[in-house]
Amino acid sequence: MQILYFDALSNETIIYFQTMQALEEEGVVLLRGIKLDKLKFESLTKLFCKYFFRVTSREKFLQVEGDGFSTLTPPESFVLLGHVEVDYVPCIKTPDIGFLFCLVSPYVAGGETFLIEGASMFNSIPKEIQDRFKNENITYEFLWEPQRWKAQYSVQTEKELHDIFESIQNIQYSLTDGWLHMFYTTSAIVQMKDGSTAFSNAILPHLPHIDHPLYSDKVIYTKKTNQVYWEGGEPFSTETINQLIDAHDKNKYLHRWEDNDLLIFDNIRYLHGREETVKTSKRVLLSRFGYLKNK
Ligand SMILES: [Fe+2]
Repeated sequence: MQILYFDALSNETIIYFQTMQALEEEGVVLLRGIKLDKLKFESLTKLFCKYFFRVTSREKFLQVEGDGFSTLTPPESFVLLGHVEVDYVPCIKTPDIGFLFCLVSPYVAGGETFLIEGASMFNSIPKEIQDRFKNENITYEFLWEPQRWKAQYSVQTEKELHDIFESIQNIQYSLTDGWLHMFYTTSAIVQMKDGSTAFSNAILPHLPHIDHPLYSDKVIYTKKTNQVYWEGGEPFSTETINQLIDAHDKNKYLHRWEDNDLLIFDNIRYLHGREETVKTSKRVLLSRFGYLKNK
């Protein structure tokens, strides 16, 4: 990963072009030396993006200051397996780019953010699973409370939600007492510019439980109402999930945070996730996802 050093006097045009060049080459870049508060962080991200994604899974961490698109990452310590942000949500364009800014780095071991290049991970998956991903889509199942879908789709009523979903083929959904129960079918892989196939999805943190032996003593994010199926309706087996986790772990690049680090990454090319800290520790990161101006 390239590290670019800047300071308060650095010219915005230089920051923009050097960062974009590094992103183009490697898909991830670390900016060091720029002290930012929440508003300056937002302002810097606007060099790259005009539009941003609203992270509604973390509404309670929404920042009061600013434009409403920055959230703090959850303060609890847990493992969040690698994912492409918001890949499991229909009718929302997957953001091109993620920004993570470290206000307070953990002072104990652990708590790293990690990145996994999707093409390298795909190459590490057993051939028969690679072939299934090439031949079959996957289906995400999830259940959202009313506040969640209203915020995500910027609507107030079920009628407005029906109108958005009306012409969409690859979803099945129902609404019960305002709760949205959804099945969304999509591809788990993407073709990169160089012709490689990348694992690019949110399968691993979208499961009801994880039974991998290396994770048995860790706190790992799962959600009982989530599930992932092959397109025909067969849930992913524990064996397949564990083979995916093995490929995930083999390709993990851990980033140990320092205060004022700004990590910028390609949200399609790289999965991102987090490690737990070995002991309770403050860890304060601001997060934003956006759509590149130059695309
Ligand atoms: Fe994320």
